[in-house]
Order: sequence, then C-alpha cells, then structure tokens
Amino acid sequence: MTPEKRINELKNTINDHNYRYYALDNPAVSDGEYDILLRELEILETKNPSLITSDSPTQRVGTSPISEFGTIKHSIPMLSLANAMNQDELVTFNQRIQKGLEKDSITYVAEPKLDGLGVELVYKFGKFIHGSTRGDGITGENITHNLKTIFGIPLSLRSDQIPPPSLLEVRGEVFIRKEDFSILNKKQESNGKPIFANPRNAAAGSLRQLDPVITAERPLSIYCYEVGTIDGLSFLDHISFLEALKKWGLPVNPLIQTVTGAEGLTKYHQRLERKRISIPYEIDGTVFKVNNYNEREDLGTRSRSPRWAIAGKFKAQQATTVIHHIDIQVGRTGALTPVAKLEPVYIAGVTVTNATLHNQDEIDRKDIRIGDTILIERAGDVIPKVVKVIMEKRPNSTIPFHIPHFCPICNHKAHRPEGEAILRCGNISCPRQIKGRIIHFASKLALDIDGLGEKIVDQLVDEKILNSIDDLFILEHETLEKLDRLGDKSSKNLIDSISKSKNTTFARFIYALGIRNVGEHTAKVLEKHYTGDLEKFQNSTIEELETIDEIGPIVAETIVQFWSNSSNHILVQNCLDRNLKFAKIEFQDYQPFAGQTFVFTGSLEKLTRKDAKEMVNNLGGKSSSSVSKKTDFVVAGPGAGSKLKKAKELGVSVLSEEEFLEKVNHA
Ligand code: IVH
Repeated sequence: MTPEKRINELKNTINDHNYRYYALDNPAVSDGEYDILLRELEILETKNPSLITSDSPTQRVGTSPISEFGTIKHSIPMLSLANAMNQDELVTFNQRIQKGLEKDSITYVAEPKLDGLGVELVYKFGKFIHGSTRGDGITGENITHNLKTIFGIPLSLRSDQIPPPSLLEVRGEVFIRKEDFSILNKKQESNGKPIFANPRNAAAGSLRQLDPVITAERPLSIYCYEVGTIDGLSFLDHISFLEALKKWGLPVNPLIQTVTGAEGLTKYHQRLERKRISIPYEIDGTVFKVNNYNEREDLGTRSRSPRWAIAGKFKAQQATTVIHHIDIQVGRTGALTPVAKLEPVYIAGVTVTNATLHNQDEIDRKDIRIGDTILIERAGDVIPKVVKVIMEKRPNSTIPFHIPHFCPICNHKAHRPEGEAILRCGNISCPRQIKGRIIHFASKLALDIDGLGEKIVDQLVDEKILNSIDDLFILEHETLEKLDRLGDKSSKNLIDSISKSKNTTFARFIYALGIRNVGEHTAKVLEKHYTGDLEKFQNSTIEELETIDEIGPIVAETIVQFWSNSSNHILVQNCLDRNLKFAKIEFQDYQPFAGQTFVFTGSLEKLTRKDAKEMVNNLGGKSSSSVSKKTDFVVAGPGAGSKLKKAKELGVSVLSEEEFLEKVNHA
C-alpha cells in the first residue's frame, strides 16, 4: 500500500473512532489502540510531509503560540437566557408562549444547562474555519487555535448521511467533566501549580491560553446546542437541527429530548434535578426552547434574551460551616462590605471560603457573629449567602458584630447615606477607592487596558503616581520601568496599551467612569440616545433621562448626581485633552416607521419573515407577534388565520406583502 493510501485510511479510521467516541458515546477501541493508530499516522506524515493536510488529526496543535487574541463578530448575536427561578415560573413561561403563539399545546426541546463556556464554531463546506468565545454577545475572541485541540470538535464534518451546508455556524458549551477535573487538579498539585476552583474556571482558563500546547493538555469536552447562520440548508425545527449535528459528527448531549406543555417542562426539570449528582459534568439547571423555528420567529427576542427560551434554575445547594472572622472590604464606590471568612466547605463543585454579609441590617436581622456555625447556600454562579445561624451551635463567648464606622484602609470616617443600607468611606481619595476605580476603568468591557493588573495598580497608587483615572494618560515610560514589577519591555507594552485604549467608544467610556447603576448595557442605551454627544449627556436632566426606554428613576438620579460633581467634569475633560477619542458610530436617524407596530402572519412569498422584520426595525418600527389595539399594520400572506381575523375585528389596517414592500420603498 502506498503511504498516501495508508495515511488516508488511518485518517478515516481515526475520524471514525472520534465520531464513535465523542458523538455517539459508543467507542469501538481502547485508548491504547487509538494511540497506536495516531502514532502510526504521525510517523508516516513525518516521513512524507507533503501528504499532511490541515484537517489531519495530527494537526490539532499548532506549532507556535499566538501573540494575541483577535476578535470575531458573531453574524447573529449570541444572546443569554432569561431565568425561571422555580417551577411556577416555568408554568408562567409556558402560558406566555401559549398566548404569544395563540396555541395550546407547545413542543419544547429540553436540555441540560451546562456550566461551562459558550463558544461558536464556524464550518464552511464542512471544514472547520474558526471559532470564538461568546464575548459580549456581539463580538468574541478568536480562539480557533485552542478549539482545534479539542478532539470532540471535528475538523471536517462527516458527509455520509447529510452533505454539510456551505456555511454552518453552531454554538455549544466547552466544559470539563467532573472526573477529568479531579485528575487535572491532582496533576496541577503534583507539578506545584495552582489548583482550579471549579471545572468552569479551569475550562475558561484553558481556552484563554495563547499557547495551544497548554490547552491540548487540558481535558476539554464540548456539546453543541444552538444554531447561528446556516446557508444552503434549512431546518423546520430545533430537534431536526440537533439530529443533523449528530450526523455531521458534532457532539450533542444525549439527555436532550422534546417535551410538551407545562407538565413536560416541570417533569423534565424535576427529573434532571434528581439526577444532577450522578451526571458526569456540572449542570446548573435546564434549558427549554420552543422547537418550531417559525414559532421562534413569531415570538422574537428581547434585547438580551430570546422570548422562545428559558433557563430553569436548580434549587440552591446548602452546607454548614463556621465563621472564623469578619473582614471589611472597601469597594470602588467606598462601600464597606462585611465578608465572613469561613472554614472552607465544598458546595456544588466549589470550595467556599468567603460569604458576603451585605450590610449591618443583614447582620442584625440574622444575628450573625464571629464563631457562629451558619447554613450557607450557593445558587448557580452566585456568591454564597448566609441562610441562617444555627443557634444551638453558638459558643457562649460570642458578641454581636458591628461594622466599624471608619474605613479600614484610610481610617476616614464612614457614613451611611440616607435611605441606604450601606456604610461608605467618605474619602474620595481613599487609596482603595482610587485603585478600584482605576481597575474598573481598565477592565475588559471598559477601556480594556491590557497589562494593567491589580498588583501594578496597587503599586502606582501606593507610590502616589496615579491619583485618578486621567493620570493614566500622562504616565511615562521612565516612571514605569523603575517599578518593581515592570521592566523595560512590560513598561513599554503598558504605555502602548494605554495609548491604544484612547481610541474607544462613547459607551465603553461611560461604563468605564464607574457611575453607580450604569452597567455595560445601560451605557450602550445612553450612547444610542445621546448619539455619542458627551456634552448633551453631561447636561441631561432627570426628566430627560427618564424618557429613555430602559432608564428608570434610580439610574437617572445617580447619573445627574455624578455630573453635579465638578471634579467629574474635570476628569473627563482631562481625558479628552489627553487625546481620548470616541469612534464614530453610524446612527440610523431616518426613522419613518417610528412608533408603528407591524404584525406578520401567514406565509410571505418574496421576503423571509426575518428580513421583513429587519426592514421594519431599520426604519424605526417594531414588529410584534400578536395583534392588539396597539398594532398599526398586519401584513397578511396566504394561510393567514386567527391574527387576520382579529385585525379585522379591531379595525387594524391589513396590508398584502406587495403593499408592505411598496410602503417600505416609499418610506
Ligand atoms: S442556548 C439564545 N443551550 O447558558 C440561546 N445555552 O444564559 C442561548 N448554556 O451563554 C444559548 N447550556 O453558554 C443554550 N443547552 C444550552 C446551554 C446554554 C448552557 C449557556 C450558554 C449561554 C448561557 C445563557
């Protein structure tokens, strides 16, 4: 047999074994036998380098580390999921869907909610092209080099049952199995390396490596569960899509099934919660998705999560432990937060050593004291909280705990603003606050200053080189290179990334300022409203802010308060004087359909529903799935039923597809 023939034979056999192992969960050979085949292929390829192809199983680990992560824009945003905290909320979800679709019996696809990291894989004509993290949902990091090391991800899709489409974007979760996690941590320990707190952190750390050799050593698994864009093929429903994924060799969770109605949702949820401990990987709940893709379209999405899906949360897991002492932490807004330092205890896959006690009221209400045995609980990813003190176990010597009325960092007097439960250090020059503000300013979703870690900020603030965020932009190489942790090269890199960070966006900068209650999403809402006009934003009034969709009275008030402080104006002016610039954003200001709501029903012949809805959105209108008095136009195609009837009853204008297109063209 020629080397070429044998190489092809080996590649096919190895791919078949991968398929059986990862996608079918039904291996045909032992790990040892598999390794022998892989080794034979490696040897043959070394002897015949011209026969190496990029999708060969030997080519999973690239030869050299990358220097930085690039970014990839998701063609369709990667949204998150709304939560149902208990079974009643699952029932309410089903009612909402029934109402939205005007239909009684709804079929859902029920899935375990994996506790790992969401990723997107892109295949063109069956070949794995690139993959990315979820990132902020719009843009993710290019982690192709690391994803290729995961054997569960086929480099080429199988084509024996269904030919792969020209473009397939598929989403899934990268995770580490419980057993693999404990082996990994034992290895870390014996190599004198830090151990990981939980499988999720280990998976996240592994995907963020620049060197794929390290990632390849980590036991990463993947299950695929959602669709992005597909070209050249279409599916009627989610379950057929998942079936096709399996046929292409992509791993799909075998615990996924279809269920019907509220009873189907609650039963699956209960069953999975009971099985949780025996499932070989961490899950933190269930996910239910409307199966039919047209129905999904009809329901549509909110700004951050689709209306057609929900995550069912599992009940929190509890444990008891002892409070050794209570620390007071100072945040970037000066808030003094009491944190209980605990005897380490293992709950839901994580070793817990701290629990937040929130504020004095909470401590008083639960009568929490140093030395107490407490019941704590952890729900999903959240920081554990104290449920109650176990009074029977309270030692005799305990005394009530009072948060001191001074800052543990700068000794300045702490005060409790009216109507608030939290004590705050009143010294805006408190080093801990300055450090917190700078770290937030430099963080990933803010100005994203690479290389400005906590330890460096500590040093810069302690040595009074940095006193506020605008000082960052006058830092000099000569000052930095003299610091303990920075040599010539890292100092230059840091200056470079500070300089790069000056080309930012309005939304990032507003978020970076750390105005209370203004998170990343709110900053984007403000960017849109003020079309990037900073001065207009600085002069906004509570009344104006409250007219903005998604801005409530509390946020409005904190914004106005922030701008009432002249030092914040100086700070911003300094940043601008030091060359901070916002990227120009294209705003759609031509909005002839503003304030108008459209409902599409029946089938459209020239447009897809998605395109039609997009047209409406682009012209400033809204589309909805149900007809009401508020509907302005119903666009009805052949097969229109109850919605058309309702439109006529309510006297809502009805348009044909032709008429709709005409309206768009003349808008
Ligand atoms: S579907 C719009 N399915 O949960 C649909 N997500 O809160 C969103 N996740 O970022 C994704 N298991 O990383 C989906 N079976 C599952 C999931 C799942 C875990 C994660 C995913 C996503 C987050 C959403």
